[in-house]
Amino acid sequence: VDIKTLRGATGGLTTIDPGYKNTGSCESAITFLDGEKGILRYRGYSIEELAEKADFLEVCYLLIFGELPNKDQLEAFHIDIKNESHVDEEMKKILDAFPKSAHPMGILSSLTSALIAFNPTSVDVTSADEMYGAIVRILAKFPVLVAWTMRKKKGLPLDYGDDNLSYVENIYKMMFKKPSKEYEKNQIVIDALDKLLILHADHEQNCSTSTVRIVGSSHAGLFASLSAGISALWGPLHGGANQAVLEMLEAIQEDGGDTKKYMAKAKDKSDPFRLMGFGHRVYKNFDPRAKIIKVAADEVLGDLGIDDPILNVAKGLEKEALEDQYFVDRKLYPNVDFYSGIIYRALGIPTEMFTVMFALGRLPGWISQWREMRLRNEPIGRPRQVYIGENSRPFVEVDKR
Ligand code: ACO
Repeated sequence: VDIKTLRGATGGLTTIDPGYKNTGSCESAITFLDGEKGILRYRGYSIEELAEKADFLEVCYLLIFGELPNKDQLEAFHIDIKNESHVDEEMKKILDAFPKSAHPMGILSSLTSALIAFNPTSVDVTSADEMYGAIVRILAKFPVLVAWTMRKKKGLPLDYGDDNLSYVENIYKMMFKKPSKEYEKNQIVIDALDKLLILHADHEQNCSTSTVRIVGSSHAGLFASLSAGISALWGPLHGGANQAVLEMLEAIQEDGGDTKKYMAKAKDKSDPFRLMGFGHRVYKNFDPRAKIIKVAADEVLGDLGIDDPILNVAKGLEKEALEDQYFVDRKLYPNVDFYSGIIYRALGIPTEMFTVMFALGRLPGWISQWREMRLRNEPIGRPRQVYIGENSRPFVEVDKR
């Protein structure tokens, strides 16, 4: 059936597919994923090659515009982003108003939404120029919001970026520069950050990306759609898993490191406990990102000279799960978030910030999916339901109920 016929089709049969396990919501030319074979490609390029050879800004360009940029295109893109990096001073008052205990994902989602008030021209954009403007604006300002959110969490004064640095090094500086000290570059940390951001950059129609597309389909605008995507990512079954993984590994370690006990808990159907960082809706063999991250975790910890006992707990769980019939039968393998938290921790990022780092990486994916949806002029997302409630019945006055 061609797409025009499908677009016009309403009424008649309604399919029901809880969790949309077998329902495609759109056609997309951005990310290819084969869950059985463990393949992930952005615009045709393998994730392995991109993680090794590209930097995050190139991947942003690739995802959003469809091709790897040449040198001039990349430089022009970077300059446009630098020119938009100022975040209105009034935004700091909003940040200040949050209690220190506020979860960084709530802060990030609110600040992204608040940006609309200070950038009204980015609300609903339709022309190519307006769209480009909104895209570079958010690519420029989002890292500032991320850095502010972390510095608030750590009780550090806010810092500003440096136009002479690369996109990722600038993020590193904004996040990590110590107050009243000279900026010290740490290439190991910058490279690890670059790789983690690339690995998280897109993952086709996951929960947060579908949220961005569906909110954007009402023409609510890019920033509002992104703010909704951040909220979707927050949940522990999605992006929040990276925080949950580390908390789980710490709890196992504190409890004596008995991984077998926690394997048994995860298999016990009367216990709601799940092994966080295991299982994936579409990868039923292995998560290719997890393979790359596992190697990166070993390298980063080695390079930084960190001996983290949490890594041993993680390796123990992975080994046992690979040999356990319950996990084998259900095809539950470590996902991207199983090892990312270990690296974030080694880089000095607070646990509650882990999902914010995921959002920073996923930003170009969300933008590219939103842009594709708008350029294809997709109709408003509006699923149907199968009604299972009461039939028609007469109203009963309050004193007769
Ligand atoms: N630990 C123990 N059992 C599990 C786990 C787990 N982590 N994940 C799934 N199962 C079991 C379920 O209990 C179920 O068993 P059953 O068939 O006996 O009832 C079976 O495996 C299938 O599980 P579903 O929840 O139906 O699988 P679904 O595809 O809906 O869920 C999900 C995928 C949400 C990722 C799930 O595996 C999970 O909760 N994992 C832990 C959270 C996590 O790591 N999330 C991050 C996902 S990746 C990301 O967002 C970047």
